Amino acid sequence: MPGVRVHEDVRTLRALPRETDLITAGFPCQDLSQAGMTAGLAGRSSGLIGEVLRLLERRRRARRGIPLVLIENVPFMLQLGRGRALEVIIDALEELGYRWAYRVVDTLAFGLPQRRERVFLAAALDEDPRKIVLSDDAGPPDPVAPTPDLSFGFYWTEGVRGLGAAVDSIPTLKGGSTIGIPSPPAIILPTGRIVTPGITDAERLQGFDEGWTEPAEAVARRSHRWKLVGNAVTVNVAEWLGRCLAAPGPYDGAWDAPMSRKSGAWPRAAWGADGKRFESTVSSWPVAVPRSRLDVFLRDPCPLSLKATAGFWSRFSKSSLRRPPWVDDAIVRHIEWMATRKTSDDRARAATAAR
Ligand SMILES: C[S@@+](CC[C@H](N)C(=O)[O-])C[C@H]1O[C@@H](n2cnc3c(N)ncnc32)[C@H](O)[C@@H]1O
Repeated sequence: MPGVRVHEDVRTLRALPRETDLITAGFPCQDLSQAGMTAGLAGRSSGLIGEVLRLLERRRRARRGIPLVLIENVPFMLQLGRGRALEVIIDALEELGYRWAYRVVDTLAFGLPQRRERVFLAAALDEDPRKIVLSDDAGPPDPVAPTPDLSFGFYWTEGVRGLGAAVDSIPTLKGGSTIGIPSPPAIILPTGRIVTPGITDAERLQGFDEGWTEPAEAVARRSHRWKLVGNAVTVNVAEWLGRCLAAPGPYDGAWDAPMSRKSGAWPRAAWGADGKRFESTVSSWPVAVPRSRLDVFLRDPCPLSLKATAGFWSRFSKSSLRRPPWVDDAIVRHIEWMATRKTSDDRARAATAAR
């Protein structure tokens, strides 16, 4: 955004600007596993979230506490270290005098055909944070069974332990592998073709305008765009959060049960105030915006390559993963189709070379 000062490394940020009234932080998940190793505020040097806690603590000591904090992460955060990682953060926020509330939110609820669950935690000094993140609840629709006339999204890079199967939607777009290779999910279309979304479709699946990340190509490799898209908070979800911050709604927690955390993991929605913690029953669908079919939504699909499909099939065909029977047929047919295409492409290239 023009005119906004960017401080690139939070670890070297000594203090927050005087007028700060909201901190938002989405940090790498592996960072949490480090934070989970050390308890309470003492663990604040052990990760990027620890840096956020350090900055909040500094302001509290100066008696100018930051009124609002918004934290985002993957739902795995709820289970990490048998719940210890989130406990470190929540203990620290409570120690700093914050009330807090969080829930899992799914991008699918916002009219986009991507299943993407993220945890959003609001902590507030003067307000009721439940009114920010827990107020809206449309509830999830009935699950839709996979059928050949609907698209079927899956991760072609998986195929042994999981598939990430998603009906009429794609599984979560990721930031790319550790070595920076983009690996978007695959989709079996109702036509039987297997495709992957192009970068502009990926942008739209995250709520960005087509081409939003194009300027990055001036300073980084094209593949970096996948990382920007995969790391992002879906625009529509961020917009909803913005609206909730601007105009909090009602929340009645009178019937919420005290938190039990039997296996250590945290519930999918919860809140805490005055040293007490409760589970909330709100769903991951705060709103329910109608969406178009995935096959209609896509504008820039590319066929899944022969190599990628064959590699996936060699793992998947041996696995005992449950799937609808037509999925196997579609993969085999796609391999045959791509092999024919390759042969005709090879012939055309040979003919051109001979001319
Ligand atoms: C999971 S991503 C979240 C990205 C965010 N949602 C977005 O769309 O920009 C984690 C982010 O933490 C940033 N990060 C990593 N180390 C950092 C540091 N030392 N200081 C500030 N940011 C850092 C990374 O650049 C990355 O963008």
